Amino acid sequence: MKLLCIETTCDETAAAVVTGELEVLSSMVASQENLHERFGGVVPEIASRAHVERILPVIDQTLERAGLGLTDLDAIAVANTPGLSGSLLVGLVAAKTLCAATGLPLVAINHLQAHVYACRMAAGEDVFPCVGMIVSGGHSNLYRCDGPTDFTLLGATIDDAAGEAFDKVASLLGLPYPGGPSIQKAAERGDPKRHRFPRPMLKDDRLAFSFSGLKTAVRYQLIGPGKLDDAQPVELTEQEVADVAASFQAAVIDCLAGKAEQAMRQTGFDTMCVGGGVAANGPFRARLEEDAARCGWRLHVPPLSLCTDNAVMGAIAVERFRAGKFAPLDLDIAPGLER
Ligand code: KG4
Ligand code: ZN
Repeated sequence: MKLLCIETTCDETAAAVVTGELEVLSSMVASQENLHERFGGVVPEIASRAHVERILPVIDQTLERAGLGLTDLDAIAVANTPGLSGSLLVGLVAAKTLCAATGLPLVAINHLQAHVYACRMAAGEDVFPCVGMIVSGGHSNLYRCDGPTDFTLLGATIDDAAGEAFDKVASLLGLPYPGGPSIQKAAERGDPKRHRFPRPMLKDDRLAFSFSGLKTAVRYQLIGPGKLDDAQPVELTEQEVADVAASFQAAVIDCLAGKAEQAMRQTGFDTMCVGGGVAANGPFRARLEEDAARCGWRLHVPPLSLCTDNAVMGAIAVERFRAGKFAPLDLDIAPGLER
């Protein structure tokens, strides 16, 4: 069995060919980072137009690298939820058109389930049941994952996503986009104890995150209270930037790791899978490893290339294919979070 998986939920145009044995025959990711950089975040219209330009070349090259043609495939899979509407539509229309032209069946991918499946792909063994944590630019979610496509939402952010907070704080500090890697780099030379930023919701029993107050606390720290509206960018020394970055990163890590531990306790599971761009953060990964060793969990955090958006994680479609769960050709996108 060979499946072509397509991913265009946000700002990466990606495709991969995977087999029924979960072997990756080829994988490509065309990043749009340089297009969105000067805006400090993903601009939806620019993202969808870039997908339109890239989708066919990416699919062509992915098939070519696998040494396959469309007729060698058994199905075409595409992420249709959640994500940016315009971005999702490009991948979905491409997949449907290929299905209509070839007669191949269509398989729908839930992008968030796919992020957890990236852990399955990296581990090379079953990881379910597990607690799934997805921390990206758009989501900070905790799931009870009884199987690859059997997810129950345990909690989510009530405002900004963790990656969004990294991006916004990086912009406050004058660091380049995407903010996560910039803050991680700046934080290496900083003192994480220099500022005591809040850890919202950490003492609360509810499995929820809140990062917008933390971002505001950083703003106040930089420009002082009561001046937010007419604030001018402040000149910070390199050391001051590093200290704020390190203190902010430490606060986010405490929140994420604290809630992950609560979710493990509540479910009684012994396996934790983490995915999404923020899972690429080195100190966060180190903290999770410490916690896993202390609590005796099995921890799966994929390599960096499988944390950020990619189509290899679309191999979750193999599970749906085997279960005979095909999608109709009038399949729509579902941009919002599917609970
Ligand atoms: O999963 P992803 O590639 O795209 C979606 O949002 O779906 O995640 C991107 C997010 C961005 O907000 C970026 O700043 C963050 O992941 N990120 C990081 C790191 N690398 C990427 N955040 C913290 N530390 C990193 N090393
Ligand atoms: Zn994602």
